[in-house]
Amino acid sequence: MSPAPTSRTRSFWDDAVVYQLYVRSFADSDGDGVGDLGGVIRRLDHIAGLGAGAIWLNPCYPSPQADHGYDIADYRGVNPEYGDLGTFDRLVAEAHARGLRILMDLVPNHCSERHPWFAAALAAGPGSPERARFVFRDGRGDGPPNNWQSVFGGPAWTRVTEPDGTPGQWYLHLFAREQPDFDWRHPAVLAEFDDILRFWFDRGVDGFRIDVCHGLIKDAALRDWDGGGYNAYSWNRPEVHEIFRRWRALAEGYERDLLLVGEVWVPDPADLDDYLRPDELHQAFSFDLLVQPWEAGALRGAAERAVARTAVHGAPAAWTLANHDVHRAVTRYGIVRPEAPPESNDAFAALMRPRGEVDVERGERRARAALLLLLALPGSVFLYQGEELGLPEVLDLPDAARQDPVFHRSGGREKGRDGCRVPLPWSATGPAFGFSTGTPWLPQPDWFAGYAAEAQDETSTLALHRRAIRTRRELGLGEPGPVEWLGTGDDAVLAFRRGAVVCVVNTGTTDFTPPAGWGEPVLHSAEPGVVTPDAAAWLRAVDRG
Ligand code: NOJ
Repeated sequence: MSPAPTSRTRSFWDDAVVYQLYVRSFADSDGDGVGDLGGVIRRLDHIAGLGAGAIWLNPCYPSPQADHGYDIADYRGVNPEYGDLGTFDRLVAEAHARGLRILMDLVPNHCSERHPWFAAALAAGPGSPERARFVFRDGRGDGPPNNWQSVFGGPAWTRVTEPDGTPGQWYLHLFAREQPDFDWRHPAVLAEFDDILRFWFDRGVDGFRIDVCHGLIKDAALRDWDGGGYNAYSWNRPEVHEIFRRWRALAEGYERDLLLVGEVWVPDPADLDDYLRPDELHQAFSFDLLVQPWEAGALRGAAERAVARTAVHGAPAAWTLANHDVHRAVTRYGIVRPEAPPESNDAFAALMRPRGEVDVERGERRARAALLLLLALPGSVFLYQGEELGLPEVLDLPDAARQDPVFHRSGGREKGRDGCRVPLPWSATGPAFGFSTGTPWLPQPDWFAGYAAEAQDETSTLALHRRAIRTRRELGLGEPGPVEWLGTGDDAVLAFRRGAVVCVVNTGTTDFTPPAGWGEPVLHSAEPGVVTPDAAAWLRAVDRG
């Protein structure tokens, strides 16, 4: 039996700041325009200097890059564009020497069409044991076996040509056609992933972010789904939990802190609880907060729900405001005139990538304030690369440059996720703003110069991140403990107390003057004193305790 929540000891993920590193776009050390692990090693001090405690590496395994690494051809290697296992080992050692843990990205729902198992399945034909590790079915007439849609657009099935040249069976892919889904009811799939986990744990990795946790098990009969939106036959099936129990037991066989943090999208955030039972995942991302509008009540509601969730099974919250799938926070919070979302197969797309006219300055103020909100809450905080620079989304990439399968499979209706994956600007001048000596794999706009890491001064968003993360640690703000909500007399202002510290966030249009009893200013996102619209502050009671 796993320990009860009350008896658990402290772990690094209780209050870590985890830097999410999209390898392709972070730093390029060999001039091919694509970020790599050598680049990560060179820039590790940037991450350590932020005060982060861990790094989550987006997938860096050998992959044809149809979905930029979420289509894996070999789960035990490193993409040659990024380095090799030797570079990886060096990265782990250099990161550990700086007190940074390394989390990898585990992609268990699907592999690449170039994975040897899939090649073998195509060659072996219908009814073969090779096909049984995937979801191959005969079609209905000339059509696919059921009506499921791919998250990225179009049907979730692709028909293969059989070895004898005839049109044949169909295979399931909840994402792109280059990403065939495994059949997680097959024991060989379970055994293979046990081995993959051990391979990386034995190399010194400190845990995994787990992709699409809610998708691994499908309805056994693969029934048609006519319910619209979220397909309850392909997502969040009850049997999925057995897999996480298995991995948790495996991780606990090691004598060190190993984290399993899940990407779990469920329409009712209360469903997350099941994934966080003491013998399943340690954490799941609080996307509920990420998708809220800039309104005090909405933000408070999501924060309260996530904090309440912590009490159910003792799993610390995993806060995040951005990642490689969503529009950057500055842009989301800066929308002044929302546009109707395009039609999408993805139930969450409109929330993750809202469209409309953006006031970038307003978005910047709000994103800075949101950072103080996040860092004052108990739990770990996942910070997507570039957010610390205050980067807005690149909304106007030329269509010809776009690479995301979301763009291509939706026929361009959805712009997709390239705009938050544009390579980082490190310096205001020089080739590719210091990212690469070559041509970056996605074009950087000229205005990136103004956001370059080296150009950020003491009032910058980067400086705010460093100060806030350091102060959070000094004050123990991320540590487990109660969140006491305070009345503000203003619906647009939220405030809560954490020990001696009060966090105030003003989402309204008028200044808010905190009562004297809340304490002295410690940190602010805009200016000291009154909390101006779209700003936040931390105050500290001087004589408490
Ligand atoms: C979620 C990942 O975050 C996303 O980038 C990817 O495209 C899908 N899962 C499919 O693996």
